[in-house]
Amino acid sequence: MLRKNHSAILVSFFFTACLWAQQKDKIPEVEALLEKMTLEEKIGQLNLLTPGGGVATGSVVSKNVEEKIKAGKVGGLFGVAGPDRVRMAQELAVNDTRLKIPLLIGSDVIHGYKTTYPIPLGLSCSWDMDLTEQAARMAAKEATADGIMWNFSPMVDIARDPRWGRIAEGAGEDPYLGSAVAKAMVKGYQQNDLAAPNTMLACVKHLVLYGAAEAGRDYHSVDMSRVKMFNQYLPPYQAAIDAGVASAMSSFNDIDAIPASGNKWLLTDLLRDRWNFDGFVVSDYTSVNEMIAHGLGDLQAVSALALKAGLDMDMVGEGFLTTLKKSLEEGKITEEEITVACRRVLEAKYLSGLLDDPYRYSDESRPEKDILTEENRALARKLATRSFVLLKNHNQILPLKKEAKIALVGPLADSRNNMLGTWAPTGDTKLAVTILEGFKNVAPDATISHAKGANISDDPEIAKKVNVFGSRIEIDERSPETLLQEAVEAAKASDVVVAVVGEATEMSGEAASRTDISIPESQKKLIRALVETGKPVALVLMSGRPLTIPEEFEMPVAILQVWHPGVEAGNAIADVVFGDYNPSGKLTTTWPRSVGQIPIYHSVKNTGRPAPEDRFQKFKSNYLDSENTPLIPFGHGLSYTTFEYSDIKLSNSEISQGESIEVTITLKNTGNVDGEEVVQLYLQDVVRSITPPKRQLKGFNKVMLKKGESKQVSITLSDDDLKFYNSDLEFVSEPGEFKVYVGTDSNATLSQSFTLK
Ligand code: BGC
Repeated sequence: MLRKNHSAILVSFFFTACLWAQQKDKIPEVEALLEKMTLEEKIGQLNLLTPGGGVATGSVVSKNVEEKIKAGKVGGLFGVAGPDRVRMAQELAVNDTRLKIPLLIGSDVIHGYKTTYPIPLGLSCSWDMDLTEQAARMAAKEATADGIMWNFSPMVDIARDPRWGRIAEGAGEDPYLGSAVAKAMVKGYQQNDLAAPNTMLACVKHLVLYGAAEAGRDYHSVDMSRVKMFNQYLPPYQAAIDAGVASAMSSFNDIDAIPASGNKWLLTDLLRDRWNFDGFVVSDYTSVNEMIAHGLGDLQAVSALALKAGLDMDMVGEGFLTTLKKSLEEGKITEEEITVACRRVLEAKYLSGLLDDPYRYSDESRPEKDILTEENRALARKLATRSFVLLKNHNQILPLKKEAKIALVGPLADSRNNMLGTWAPTGDTKLAVTILEGFKNVAPDATISHAKGANISDDPEIAKKVNVFGSRIEIDERSPETLLQEAVEAAKASDVVVAVVGEATEMSGEAASRTDISIPESQKKLIRALVETGKPVALVLMSGRPLTIPEEFEMPVAILQVWHPGVEAGNAIADVVFGDYNPSGKLTTTWPRSVGQIPIYHSVKNTGRPAPEDRFQKFKSNYLDSENTPLIPFGHGLSYTTFEYSDIKLSNSEISQGESIEVTITLKNTGNVDGEEVVQLYLQDVVRSITPPKRQLKGFNKVMLKKGESKQVSITLSDDDLKFYNSDLEFVSEPGEFKVYVGTDSNATLSQSFTLK
């Protein structure tokens, strides 16, 4: 009897504990609210609208937004900014609805809010995670000062196809680096307190595989093996989730033939069950409705599919708002499914402090104090200098002397509209510093003659497509010949030529895919003519993607890749061109020789028939008309000084599972100026149960060395760094030999081996 009682007590204790465990994550304030809510009110919370008025980020804008807010049919807004406007919107929600639930106010703060810093692809080339976090921190401070508490960033899509214009928005091709960047950005936006008035909810996007769109065409299908996804494409999303990201955005593409926004495997099995994500998921812009065009049914069917898959908030499409009730009545969804989604949205509001104070982010004294401050602009300038990659430096043309006689030419040399880069809807092009201005600021004693030299493109059709957000490609009234002649004359009369060439900002970004990713022909002609003058030529190359530049790369020139540098563009470029900052950026993407090599990335696998390195061989894996190697490898980037790597040592020659291993090299600055170097570590798992990449980035360390200085640089490989997802998608390491390569880029040759027991 006693025994029975005892076990009954235990059982009841067990159930109470389970109940408690189930409920312990529930937030009482949110539960109390849910108790009071009608079905319509719950559905209203799942609706995200954009009233338009700013820069459009999609093809439709929402109608009758004010009435809908008052009717409790809106959970959040984006495209609304300014503490006063946000306050007005909150007042509609708070004063006019029964339950007074404030709105989430979102925005795309992709690379700075008003103080625009380099496009993310550029920033990733800094390989500097502290700086990356600082950048996100600054963006959060500015955006929250303007009323925004939810950011549709970081975009962490791995991209290995530079035809895809949105490669500009992410951190490039590598999952290891991409994960580090994802983590740094989430930390910068969110800190550890979402309710602080200067932090914002981050939103990792786009889940998943958006960067693998077929043929590099935006929104296109994706079809990929699970093993490849887990090893190469998913790690950055998971890193953001592990870093505590508050929300996630589903992507436009399909995965295993089901669009992400209706994909239960993705939104529930992977995200919730495997990764334990407990934030909320918002769709991408009308991506629920777009499942109709994908061929999955009418609006009611796709909306029900999305909700059941695990999507919580519907961006702009209003499929949830207009059809969920009907689906419930018809038994196609359950009220519990609506409640779960609503709970997640409300929890985000609670965490951001909105339920406590709807006007937490509506402090009208803040914009002046926090936005576009001198300090912020200084940081943007620093970030830009760190993002530049010196691709080549023939005869040490760079840096230039500050007293030089310079011909500053090219269509981007004095083009304010093209400095911010794509996805800067909150930035202001008028505030950007042009290269011409930057040169005058940094080298007031230089003699500078400026000529446009060429149009970015001579093609009016391209210009029309690119100029959607304002004039980016301006086709000059003067003829191309006249423009070119003027630049050549300026070149002849100078000691050195700096040609600022490349892509206009909107030649990359969303819906800006290209099949030819070379420098447009108008500018190629200019470059050729400048080189023919025999003057030293430095190309300052702007783009939102890797370009194919085999011809220019062969020329006797310097090439400084500057991406789109942001509001301080001109000053930052001048800082590097005149040697005030010694460039240290390293590519985070592989640069192909031609479009035909795409997709191309450093962590390729061997084939069963590897080609010889130096020649073509029949029945081997090679091309008739190209080498296999890229034009410029991942990780590449020169400095005004030189570095020598030597003396690689491992802490052990043999380790057991669970142990880490330290790799140490000696790095010497062998040149004449101080400089920073990104020491990179690549790992080869020689034999394993699934085909391994030839090498994979598994560590890096950015170090500063005075001229002549030597340093021991160490990188630790953790237990996890040796692991991969096997055929059963288990994250494991397998015993055997590992080879470590350390060096200045992904062709690193300094090597050692160790064994995992
Ligand atoms: C983009 C998202 C963005 C959203 C809202 C979409 O077109 O794909 O990245 O967050 O618009 O602006």
